[in-house]
Amino acid sequence: VIYVFGSLNVDFVSRVAAIPRPGETVLAREFFQAFGGKGANQAVAAARVSGPGTVAMIGAVGHDALGRSVLENLAGEGIDISAIASVSAETGCAFITVDDAGENAITVASGANLSASAAMLPDSAGLAAGDVFVLQMEVPVDENIAVAELAESRGAVVVLNLAPVPAKLDGDRLQRLLKAASVLVVNEHELHQVNALAGGEKDESLEHKAAALARAKRLAVVVTCGGDGAILVRPSGEKFQVAAAPVAVVDTTGAGDTFAGVLAAGLASGLDDLAAVERAVLAASLACEGLGAQSAMPSATQLYERLKT
Ligand code: RIB
Repeated sequence: VIYVFGSLNVDFVSRVAAIPRPGETVLAREFFQAFGGKGANQAVAAARVSGPGTVAMIGAVGHDALGRSVLENLAGEGIDISAIASVSAETGCAFITVDDAGENAITVASGANLSASAAMLPDSAGLAAGDVFVLQMEVPVDENIAVAELAESRGAVVVLNLAPVPAKLDGDRLQRLLKAASVLVVNEHELHQVNALAGGEKDESLEHKAAALARAKRLAVVVTCGGDGAILVRPSGEKFQVAAAPVAVVDTTGAGDTFAGVLAAGLASGLDDLAAVERAVLAASLACEGLGAQSAMPSATQLYERLKT
């Protein structure tokens, strides 16, 4: 089973020529509403490639119309929603602006996501060695730590997507998260933040920082590099560079979530770390070809068809 503990949002997306600067007002040429949240996106990405009944989501939505639609959407993807709580706070919302280059700026109103707690985990006795637990950072840090430590103690593979790096994250909390994780997934910016918090060398290259973390914390470090693909560094220090697929970028929203979800699905299905990263890079590339986060995530068939070409 792939468990995803994390955020669920509704995204309000505007498309503009250029993202407004502070004090500026711009008119959007298109607006749409879609399902998002890093946690829910990762659950959907995993379910699309690994099939119905393989993914369970844990988190919180509001006891409101948006919350009900979020639950319906996940159930429609074949995801187990029995451990998602409906709480009195409003369902999480994200306000997203996408420019002509496909880049975005996102503001998240967390709402119900702040109620996500380790106490919502389904009967932990059900957790088994070989299960994969996926975490990201749009829910309270201390709950993420509690979930990561419990999952690790039960023999699950913990995939930690440290995105976004929370302001409240200090060296001690980071250390506990990394100790429980088997795989760390970060983008370049997040790697520099984690390296600084972990007391790593400031002036080293990206590869060096990733390798130092992998060796010191004894975990696989995966750095997503946008159009340049991803780097995998094993705990031994062994490094691999995986190139992105050439695609016409429409919207990069959710590409990182697609990567994390498909990576987790690959590990859960028994792929080794490199094969899982290769498949995740391809899936994330394809997710940039369409608008929105979940709407652009590929199915297993689409991935397979692209692999053939
Ligand atoms: O990673 C993309 C996601 O970040 C969006 O779907 C939005 O909800 C925010 O959580």
